[in-house]
Amino acid sequence: MQSKKIMVIGAGQMGSGIAQVFAQSHFQVKLNDISEEALTKGLNTIEKSLNRSVKKERISQQDKTDTLERLSTTTKLSDAFDCDLVIEAVVENMDVKTKVFGELDKITADHAILASNTSSLPITEIAAATHRPEQVIGMHFMNPVPVMPLVEVIRGLATSDETYQAIDQTTKALHKTPVEVNDYPGFVSNRVLMPMINEAIYTVYEGVATPESVDEVMKLGMNHPMGPLTLADFIGLDTCLYIMEVLYDGFGDSKYRPCPLLRKYVKAGWLGRKTGRGFYLYDR
Ligand code: NAI
Repeated sequence: MQSKKIMVIGAGQMGSGIAQVFAQSHFQVKLNDISEEALTKGLNTIEKSLNRSVKKERISQQDKTDTLERLSTTTKLSDAFDCDLVIEAVVENMDVKTKVFGELDKITADHAILASNTSSLPITEIAAATHRPEQVIGMHFMNPVPVMPLVEVIRGLATSDETYQAIDQTTKALHKTPVEVNDYPGFVSNRVLMPMINEAIYTVYEGVATPESVDEVMKLGMNHPMGPLTLADFIGLDTCLYIMEVLYDGFGDSKYRPCPLLRKYVKAGWLGRKTGRGFYLYDR
């Protein structure tokens, strides 16, 4: 069964992208945030992205108008009452997420599936905040959502096959590729990516090479489209540190220890592109 009416919670970087791809794929989308300002900003981001697609002749002006008509905004979580699927993309904080899921459990219809876009928090723990853990699942979109084809679909301990199948089909309806993974720290994407980024930071820390040289080696030698330090600046160094800590805590293995240089940059407020400085300098 494909979900047709959906709510996306959190109108930030990820939530706005998720709302856009659902609306472009003919779903009725309610975009929710606690702040009106965030909703306005999210809608502006979506409009700009659609304008770029019109300019590149990937979609028509009419497609853009129709997509925007399928989107509405609300600050009331209770508007999720008639949704078949809710995707949460609020800040990466377990207390905030469990509070949202606890409330959604009371508000939404019995058949509704509750998904989280978390990049590192355990789906099983988020699901335990509800009375329907078999209908809770991870739907991990990649950034930027309208561009990246992957959705990592994470099965919590109690996620049912029926829920998995529904999300698998929904992901395909978005013209994206679902990949099934189980609920372990970092899932697959960040468990493989983040230690590589962390190791790249160690090579700079130990004076093996400059950030430019590390990125050049990985781009020209390994065919990566973007060097690991450029990518770290794009993701945000605070997010990279947070995910390394999740891996380190979750596995208790010293191979996941965050590099001291990463900690130092985060303490200095050098968080990458978003603050104008990380391993590189950016115009703000
Ligand atoms: P963001 O900071 O851009 O947006 C978060 C939004 O959530 C803000 O607009 C905020 O006002 C809103 N919010 C906070 N508490 C709320 C609540 N209780 N109810 C409704 N809205 C609330 O964050 P971003 O980057 O979009 O990340 C969101 C989630 O997506 C996080 O779990 C993050 O780990 C995950 N993620 C992020 C990726 C990235 O590259 N930024 C990639 C994949 C997943």
